[in-house]
Amino acid sequence: MDLPAHITAALAQLHYGEAPDTLYEPIRYIMGLGGKRIRPLLTLLGAHLFTDELGPVTKPALATEVFHNFTLLHDDLMDQAPLRRGQPTVHEKWNPNVAILSGDVMLVRAYELFFDVAPALLPTVLRRFSQTAAEVCEGQQWDMNFETEAHVGIPQYLDMIRLKTAVLLGFCLELGARLAGAPDEDAEHLRQFGTDIGLAFQIRDDLLDVYGDAATFGKRVGGDIVSDKKTYLLLTAQAQASAAQRAVLARHIGQPVADAAAKVAAVRAVYDELNIRSQTEALINDYFQDALQHLARVGAPEARKYPLHHLALQLMDREN
Ligand code: IPE
Ligand code: IPE
Ligand code: MG
Ligand code: MG
Ligand code: MG
Repeated sequence: MDLPAHITAALAQLHYGEAPDTLYEPIRYIMGLGGKRIRPLLTLLGAHLFTDELGPVTKPALATEVFHNFTLLHDDLMDQAPLRRGQPTVHEKWNPNVAILSGDVMLVRAYELFFDVAPALLPTVLRRFSQTAAEVCEGQQWDMNFETEAHVGIPQYLDMIRLKTAVLLGFCLELGARLAGAPDEDAEHLRQFGTDIGLAFQIRDDLLDVYGDAATFGKRVGGDIVSDKKTYLLLTAQAQASAAQRAVLARHIGQPVADAAAKVAAVRAVYDELNIRSQTEALINDYFQDALQHLARVGAPEARKYPLHHLALQLMDREN
């Protein structure tokens, strides 16, 4: 089965609500902008390791995508991001209150997509989904807190991205496995595989935020530098900077921004001098290798693992 096409078709069937338009139109807008749809894909691929019967997995898989898009509405507001998937963000196209409330109702709709899960599985699925959703909020708040903290360690950064991004990818795979009736041990290795892929995925996102092509990336390039995000790139640069480079960073990070383009250029120049890009790519690869060890330990036929392996590889050098 063509899983991406299956996901697109199933998403197109979702009905979020009618009136008022200002509540539901932004949802149709953000969901209509596409995106990679990797979360439902991970759920379906996780299930497909163990079963060919993907019917009962589809709605829960869509729940992960609706939940993800809810986080994007709020994240873009919090990050003051102008662009998402190459188009104006919801809070720019409408207003901040619309982004808040449309996001809230998306979280409700995401929960509803779990209603048909078999009664024997439902408590575990809801408990794990709720735990994951709360962790995403925790990670998101750490991310915001770190903007105004001068001293953030790399272990703190890694824990922050694990929470805001990686646990959801881990959950998506675990969800697929559990819905397919996989043993706990396999569900757990898949969760860890997804979490490691998620760490690599967020580090790649941070890299693209500095070095991506704006048209392909679909988001404002340099946004993380402008808002003093404590990314692996910045923390590594701060740790390795010479006195002169340290002075450049200190002049720009945590200071009022007079000229955003100049700030991005100055910080990126320090990254270039320190080869931050290749160091970041090396870390991405480390997490990818860790991920593969967990995939290897999942008790499913190797041929069925291939699409997951292939997707993970694609995500490691994605450009959007
Ligand atoms: C964006 O997620 C938020 C991050 C966790 C980096 P994606 O990169 O999956 O965004 P879409 O859904 O494909 O647009
Ligand atoms: C992703 O972090 C966090 C979410 C849970 C949405 P980012 O703030 O880096 O995501 P993008 O770059 O805006 O997609
Ligand atoms: Mg953001
Ligand atoms: Mg953010
Ligand atoms: Mg980002």
